Amino acid sequence: MEQTVLNLPSETTGDRHPAPFVMVIFGAAGDLSHRKLFPALYNLVVDQWLPEEVAVVGVARQKNDSASFRASITQSVRKFSRRPVDEAVWSKFEANVHYVEGDFGKPEVYDRLKDALEMVEKEMPAATNRLYYLATPPSFYPVIAEQLGRVGLNNPRDPAAWVRIVVEKPFGRDLDSAKALNQDLHQVFGENQIFRIDHYLGKETVQNILVFRFANGIFEPLWNRRYIDHVQITVAESLGIEGRGHYYDHAGAIRDMIQNHMMQLLCLIAMEPPVVNEADSVRDEKVKVLRAIHPLSTREVAENTVRAQYEGGTAEGKAVVGYLDEPDVPSDSRTETFVALRLFIDNWRWAGVPFFLRTGKHLGKRVTEIVIQFKGVPHPFFRQSGSELEANQLILKIQPDEGISLRFGAKVPGNQMRVRTVNMNFLYNTSFDDAAPEAYERLLLDAMFGDSTLFTRKDEVETAWALVSSILQVWDRGRGPIPTYAAGSWGPKEADALIARDGFEWRLP
Ligand code: BG6
Repeated sequence: MEQTVLNLPSETTGDRHPAPFVMVIFGAAGDLSHRKLFPALYNLVVDQWLPEEVAVVGVARQKNDSASFRASITQSVRKFSRRPVDEAVWSKFEANVHYVEGDFGKPEVYDRLKDALEMVEKEMPAATNRLYYLATPPSFYPVIAEQLGRVGLNNPRDPAAWVRIVVEKPFGRDLDSAKALNQDLHQVFGENQIFRIDHYLGKETVQNILVFRFANGIFEPLWNRRYIDHVQITVAESLGIEGRGHYYDHAGAIRDMIQNHMMQLLCLIAMEPPVVNEADSVRDEKVKVLRAIHPLSTREVAENTVRAQYEGGTAEGKAVVGYLDEPDVPSDSRTETFVALRLFIDNWRWAGVPFFLRTGKHLGKRVTEIVIQFKGVPHPFFRQSGSELEANQLILKIQPDEGISLRFGAKVPGNQMRVRTVNMNFLYNTSFDDAAPEAYERLLLDAMFGDSTLFTRKDEVETAWALVSSILQVWDRGRGPIPTYAAGSWGPKEADALIARDGFEWRLP
């Protein structure tokens, strides 16, 4: 069968390469830069997405000079790159990587950065555009933005050039701090210059949710309260907090996963078709979903949310300690490593359809999937012949085993009329030869092109925080230990009870 590939408008701005630019990475010595950003840049170079004139200036506190910084990122790129490293390609790119050492809070760093950028511009006059990337602890975001403004690095020197800033998560820790951060950034940058990253939006299978819904005619007529019984969104991790106790204990699963990644998945599943495939059109529809989520009163928080912590157990075949015994976690911590929510979207499409969300560390398996549970047939007459008749399920498998399954009833061969549920599967790795790019490759490239479709807008983050903050306010009033679950299990019994109340159960991935 002939395969047709459609290039949707935001796939490409018509140009194969972004305009020449200098990328400035704050926090260049950190884990994110080493594991994700530099390997992503390298893969973009190999795939010939980048223009000839690209330079990178890393800024970090670590004592370093450009030569030793290059040596350290070379090692990381060799270790973490998706593709094997072609030394010739890498050394050409790496020759344009520079390092500025200093404390992000100190003004002189930004003067030095300005000098470094002037030097780069002399070597590479075409690279007048700037992409700043904040890969630092979030407490530095306001001061970095302010200092870039002070030295005038927030505006392009050439009116035709662009300056953009990519901001990593977490974007605030509640509604007030997210608003304050938006205000601080807006003192210096316009909204169209700000790219708030959520790496889930860079995942192929997450982008495919929109393609699946809006490039196919057969599903959308069913995609509503009339045919859908409920929706389950699971983001389960088998790993624990991996030594990040200090960060994690101040965040917890609701801030770490729900406010950003899972709200984005919910929006993509529930949104109306955008008018055009353009950043604001798509984001307008997502914000409408967030606004329509039924706000939870104190009583509703108690009834519709579950949080829990893992106890010791076995995860991925290894014995693991409980959350309270993790390094940098206080022994009386009430921070949740698991959350389950039951949410409703108050609009015409979804009124009355429960959306169940769950996420947790040290669960039975690493899996992210979305289950669309359809309603059963109105009159199940096959039941009389001893059949188990399940309602249809559509499962969007985000990771791993990326693909889509449709579960439906089929006749069991034989002389009786018996029905059994079977799967119709689409698997990415058998349908496509090309390996998917890493989320950071796609997102960096979009930021370079100035396409903010896959980045979250100011009102989007704030609306998601409004919901999460309202839950946190109620949780924070509680005292004493929170429920627990054994590491390696599928979460606390309270989460099973939450979904069982409506007569359902979580799909076992
Ligand atoms: C990050 C969280 O944003 O997402 C981590 O801070 C989490 O705690 C990670 O492990 C999950 O991402 P992925 O791509 O592995 O599903």
